[in-house]
Amino acid sequence: MAVLSICCAPDPVLRRRAKRVSSLDGSIQKLIDDMLETMPAVSGVGLAAPQVGVSLRIAVIGLADEDPIVMVNPEIVKRSGERTVVEGCLSVPGYRGEISRSVSVTVKARDRQGKEFRVKGTELLAQALEHELDHLNGVLYLDYLESPDKLYEIEAEEEQGL
Ligand code: NI
Repeated sequence: MAVLSICCAPDPVLRRRAKRVSSLDGSIQKLIDDMLETMPAVSGVGLAAPQVGVSLRIAVIGLADEDPIVMVNPEIVKRSGERTVVEGCLSVPGYRGEISRSVSVTVKARDRQGKEFRVKGTELLAQALEHELDHLNGVLYLDYLESPDKLYEIEAEEEQGL
């Protein structure tokens, strides 16, 4: 396992639509292991493969005190509600932005063995699910800012990132 380096905007890999994973071979298993090691090392709540320079539809989420969620080829199947959140991204260091996110999100994905599962989240998990799946489509939270004054600089990365 290895801690990978994080790609930051304006790296074009962050703007690409990531490709579906067709085979869960050894190289994919190693990538997942490396992402799971990298996420806590960079104080991440979530991490998507494009953020480590790999344009594939893989994302991991690790909330405190819970087993990490590994999602291969994830899709949002349901979302509801709307709330305002302050969001940051490991790939946009030094900034936070105020945007709107869903209250509840359900995602269908494959696990690292290829078995289909669903995960339903509210609050931070819902936010992380939307944020990481956006990464797979080349979308950053910056794209949702209603105006430039909804983005502000922060002193240091004192909070966790997505
Ligand atoms: Ni992010």
